[in-house]
Amino acid sequence: MPRSLTCPLMQVLVLNGPNLNMLGEREPEVYGSTTLADIAARLAGLAAELGVTLRFEQRNGEGELVDLVQEARSGDGLVLNPAAYGHYGYALRDAVAAAGIPCIEVHISNVYAREAFRHTSVIAPVAAGYICGCGVFGYELALRAVVHRIQER
Ligand code: DQA
Repeated sequence: MPRSLTCPLMQVLVLNGPNLNMLGEREPEVYGSTTLADIAARLAGLAAELGVTLRFEQRNGEGELVDLVQEARSGDGLVLNPAAYGHYGYALRDAVAAAGIPCIEVHISNVYAREAFRHTSVIAPVAAGYICGCGVFGYELALRAVVHRIQER
């Protein structure tokens, strides 16, 4: 039976790191023309379908992202595009490790087809899953994946 009929809605935070507020204008040949607001709108529809209460946020500073991951501990799951912090952000990594909720890391671009510094993720070892190179559709995959992980618990 769908969880929404039996339990409170799942609480999922979708968190976006630095420069993702520029989506749509920023390097469109890499990231496409979809804006962050477009992504939030698409996910809102999917969240309703999946029985999820979604909070969608973007911050440029690592400390602000850490604050939001700490707040997410009271919820059920996290979808995180850490942007460049994914490659070296140990404070963000530690926050995800401490959160105790499943996290799906998502990157819009195929980071493995890009510069070598993007081939490392410090988040992936503490994440429940990792999606990259699927464009903005990766967020929908990540939301479905985190819901699956939550339901497995
Ligand atoms: C990104 C990939 C990162 O390497 C980059 O720093 C970003 C965006 C992506 O979604 O493809 O800002 O996370």
